[in-house]
Amino acid sequence: KPAPPVTLVIFGATGDLTRRLLMPALINMTRGGMIDDGLSVLGIGIDEGDDAMLRERIGSFQAEQGGEGAVDKGAAWHALAERIHYLRGDFTADEVFIQLKERLAAAPTGNAAFYLATPSPFFGPIVEKLAQHGLTAQTPDAFRRIAIEKPFGHDLESARALNARILACVDESQVYRIDHFLGKETVQNIMTARFGNTIVESLWNNHYIDRVEITAAETVGIGTRGKFYDSTGALRDMVPNHLFQLLAMVAMEAPNSFDAEAIRNEKGKMLAAIRRYSPEEAAKNAVRGQFVAGTLNGQAMPAYTDVPDVAPDSRMETFVALKLMVDSWRWAGVPFYLRTGKVMTARDTEIVVTFKPVPFTQFGSVAEHQHPPANRMIIQVQPDEGLSMEIVIKRPGLAVDTVPVSLDFRYADRFDIGALTGYESLLYDLLTGDQTLFQRADGIEAGWAAVQPFLDLWAKGGAPEPYEPGSMGPPGAAALIERDGHAWHVSTAGA
Ligand code: BG6
Repeated sequence: KPAPPVTLVIFGATGDLTRRLLMPALINMTRGGMIDDGLSVLGIGIDEGDDAMLRERIGSFQAEQGGEGAVDKGAAWHALAERIHYLRGDFTADEVFIQLKERLAAAPTGNAAFYLATPSPFFGPIVEKLAQHGLTAQTPDAFRRIAIEKPFGHDLESARALNARILACVDESQVYRIDHFLGKETVQNIMTARFGNTIVESLWNNHYIDRVEITAAETVGIGTRGKFYDSTGALRDMVPNHLFQLLAMVAMEAPNSFDAEAIRNEKGKMLAAIRRYSPEEAAKNAVRGQFVAGTLNGQAMPAYTDVPDVAPDSRMETFVALKLMVDSWRWAGVPFYLRTGKVMTARDTEIVVTFKPVPFTQFGSVAEHQHPPANRMIIQVQPDEGLSMEIVIKRPGLAVDTVPVSLDFRYADRFDIGALTGYESLLYDLLTGDQTLFQRADGIEAGWAAVQPFLDLWAKGGAPEPYEPGSMGPPGAAALIERDGHAWHVSTAGA
């Protein structure tokens, strides 16, 4: 069913996010019948130009990306392009909001969704200006919603301040804080895998689960984002948002319904249960790394400190590994190991749940009483989206011997999910008013609170450990988990 009529106002319309993700998503949504001609787009940007300029910029980018689907994407693009308009202006000046108000008053629908695809310093000022100009006031016939990109805050204090600033202008029910990981099919599937399956959820606790690993390894480097990244780092960029969304999906209690508030209550509770480490505990349970010069897939890679716009003596981390504990009845004693970094061995986002070994074993030689390997469930978020269960079977032959095998489900074998950007479901939910896949203020703040001890610790000094491009991070990351007698899962995804 197509979304209701609405004007989608995009602040930052000439920026990278709009061109690379929002517009392709809108094109896919047009093709899929998720939006129709009731939707119009009003892009706002600082660049000179008119409607034709914006259409041309987006159109030529689509054409470049073209590829196989180009023909029928072309038709969807033409249908959409006619409804794209441009308003030039400075996001902090009243002038643009006065014009915006006139445009919205003249639109065929009073519904409007404001999408803040701008650098984060503009988030607070734009929301305030929208409110001051009366653009956020809703009526029963006209909704007003605000979608806010990341990064949402820089630490706990700034995230709290930003929430307070926004919530002084609009109601929480109007705010859609984006975490694009929640648009990923495999991330949404975590809840179905858990709550749709007796054989999963009944074992999903510290009686049966030994440990959980969450990895988001990337092969990409910093590219042209040096300025942003050197004031952000791997921890802020990935952990309180993306990795914690995965963690929350894995570790939350069962909500009573799939209603947005029910789910967000449980996620918020879960994130608030992450142990707040003392400075000593933070030092013991975190490892940061920074890549040095080397080669990745045969290509020479400069060191992080040689990336444009990065300080030559930068101590910013491009890799982080953490051991976290969740203080709840369900998870007491189960370590959660998280890691993420740039220019690593392979692109791999996965969740590995290792179950406890069987309590007693009759296998192997009587003297050794060797345990067969523990069961594992692997949720492959990307690439090669899928779900595997590692179990033990008897190795064929006369002797009673065991061998682990993997029961594998790959999305690509059954479904076509490859063509979507992940923003389709987020935009559709924004337009239809479903906040389930968006972060609520309390969840954001709980996430920042859990990483604040690491931020505080690193602000005091010290330096990240160097690691080679194409590795899985510095030696300290391996040591962090080996200390507990384990090793990180070695992914075979994409191999
Ligand atoms: C973004 C980060 O939020 O997520 C990037 O700023 C990172 O640094 C990206 O590369 C990862 O997203 P995905 O969807 O490519 O895994």
